[in-house]
Amino acid sequence: MSTNRLKARLEDRIRLTGPISVADYMTTCLADPEDGYYTTSPEPFGRDGDFITAPEVSQMFGELIGGWVVATWIAMGAPSPVRLVELGPGRGTLMADILRTARLRPAFMDAVAVHLVEVSPKLRHRQGETLGGVAGALKSAPQWHDHLSAVPEGPTILIANEFFDALPIRQFVKTAKGWCERVVGLDAAGHLAFGVSSVALAEGLVPASARAAAVGAILEVSPASAAITAEIGTRIAAQRGAALLIDYGYLRSGEGDTLQALSRHAFADPLAEPGKADLTAHVDFEALARAGMQAGADAMAPLTQGEFLLRLGLLERAGQLGAGKDAATQERLRGEVERLAAPDQMGELFKVLALATPGLVPPGFERRGK
Ligand SMILES: C[S@@+](CC[C@H](N)C(=O)[O-])C[C@H]1O[C@@H](n2cnc3c(N)ncnc32)[C@H](O)[C@@H]1O
Repeated sequence: MSTNRLKARLEDRIRLTGPISVADYMTTCLADPEDGYYTTSPEPFGRDGDFITAPEVSQMFGELIGGWVVATWIAMGAPSPVRLVELGPGRGTLMADILRTARLRPAFMDAVAVHLVEVSPKLRHRQGETLGGVAGALKSAPQWHDHLSAVPEGPTILIANEFFDALPIRQFVKTAKGWCERVVGLDAAGHLAFGVSSVALAEGLVPASARAAAVGAILEVSPASAAITAEIGTRIAAQRGAALLIDYGYLRSGEGDTLQALSRHAFADPLAEPGKADLTAHVDFEALARAGMQAGADAMAPLTQGEFLLRLGLLERAGQLGAGKDAATQERLRGEVERLAAPDQMGELFKVLALATPGLVPPGFERRGK
C-alpha cells in the first residue's frame, strides 16, 4: 500500500475501473481538490519551489510585456473599458509588473479592468497579496474567475505565460496494429505503470503527417488547450483584442514524448509521486495557432522568447536599470538577460504566439504566412 494518498487512490480506482488516459492522470495529479499539486503545493514557483518562471527570473519580463499591452491597446483604438485577462497568474508577479509599467499611461489605467483566471484558491490568495500595492491605481478591483467564459464581454487583451504546459495531453503510441492510446494502469505488483489501450484508432482519425511513423513513435494532442485557444479566438474575433501565449514548446506538430515531472528543479518519474511533482508537457504551437484561426482570429508568425524580448527592448531596459549602479547589480541584470533570452537558456525553448482580431497586428509581430 502506497504512503502517497493520491497514489493509493489512483491505484484503487484503476483496480476497480481499469486504466486511465494520460490526460485523466495529469488532471488528477494537478487539480485533485484534496491532493492535487496546484491545490496543495504551498509555493511551487521561484528559487525555493519546484521551478522558476520568467516573471520570477526578472522584473524586466513583465515590464516589457506591460509596454506591449499598452501599445496593443493603442493599436486597438484605445477602447474603454478594456479587459486585461491573465490565464494562470501563478504568484501574480507578471500582472504586478505589467500594471507597474502601465501606470505610466494614466488613460490606460482608467480604461482597464483586470481579470485573473485561476483554479487554485491558495494561488488566488497569493495573487491578491502581490497585486495589493498596484491594485490601488485601478478604477475597479481585480476579479477572479474559474474559467475564461466567466470574464465579461468586451475588447480584451489576454496574457498566458506557462499556462498551456499545465493543461492535460492525450498520448498515442504507434504499435503493430496502429495508433493506440497510452494509458496509466497497474503492473504485476499493483503499482502505477504506463501501458497502451488494446484498441487502435480508426485510420481516419490519425493526422496525415503521422501515418508513416515507425512503431514506438508517440503522438500528443491536447484537446483542453485547443478548446481554450478556440474560446480565446472566438472572443477576440468578435469583440476586438489580442492574446499573447508564451510557453515552452515546438513550432510544428510532430512526434515525441514530452510529458515530464519536475520536483525541486530536477526531472522526476511522472508516476512516482502523483500530486507532489509538477506535471507538464511541451506545447504544440501549430495546434494552438490552428485552433485560434479556426475560431476566426488571425495568428501572427510565432517568435522565440529571446527574439520577442529583444524586439521589445530587453537590452535597452537592462541598460536603463543598470545605469550608474554597482558592478554586482549590473552582473545580476546581465545574468537575467541571459536567462530570459539566451538560446541555451529560456530564449529558444520558449515560444511566443500572438492571436489578434483580423486586421490588427500586435507590436513586435508579423502576420503568419499561409
Ligand atoms: C506554471 S504556473 C504559471 C504561473 C505564472 N503564469 C508565471 O509565469 O509565473 C501555471 C498556473 O496556471 C494555473 N492553472 C493550471 N491549470 C489551470 C486551469 N485549468 N485553469 C486556470 N488556471 C490553471 C496554476 O494554478 C498556476 O497559477
